[in-house]
Amino acid sequence: MKIFLIGFMGSGKTHWGRLLSEKLGMRFFDLDEQVTEHAGRPIAEIFATDGEEHFRLLEKEVLYILTESHDNFVMACGGGSPCYFNNIEYMKQSGTTVWINTPLDTLFERLVNEKDKRPLIKDLSGEQLKGFIGKKFADRKIYYEQADVTVDEEPVQLEQLIEKIFHA
Ligand code: S3P
Repeated sequence: MKIFLIGFMGSGKTHWGRLLSEKLGMRFFDLDEQVTEHAGRPIAEIFATDGEEHFRLLEKEVLYILTESHDNFVMACGGGSPCYFNNIEYMKQSGTTVWINTPLDTLFERLVNEKDKRPLIKDLSGEQLKGFIGKKFADRKIYYEQADVTVDEEPVQLEQLIEKIFHA
């Protein structure tokens, strides 16, 4: 079984992905970490040196490599990953996609303190970040809502999350 956790930056994909993988006894991948490992440099540096387009190509490449080479895993996907190329279709064909749909004000509260390692928001003021989240979320929603499972509970309930995934 291949489980892809998707959702906006700050929605808790890595946190819940780790817990989910431990509970299910499955391997955990963090796509951002895997891209960093594959490229041999941090995401912020990839953005700064080669630009976002290059990062999106790398992200797709690593998504495909991991998905093709493992039968069972939980993957925390980068916030933009389902929104480029045909990645969302690919994830859906390969396994079960789960959207962690965190309220926008919660995203803001988390991201305002965690901007530094995220190149898309690192230079934004608080007000700008609020605007960015609203606009980007509106652009990306059409991808996120294609997920097989949507989790709206805040905070996420692990048992409910598991039940939803197995009934998808
Ligand atoms: C991005 C989200 C980040 C990372 C990169 C771009 C995005 O992942 O992939 O900074 O476009 O939303 P997280 O969602 O894990 O922060």
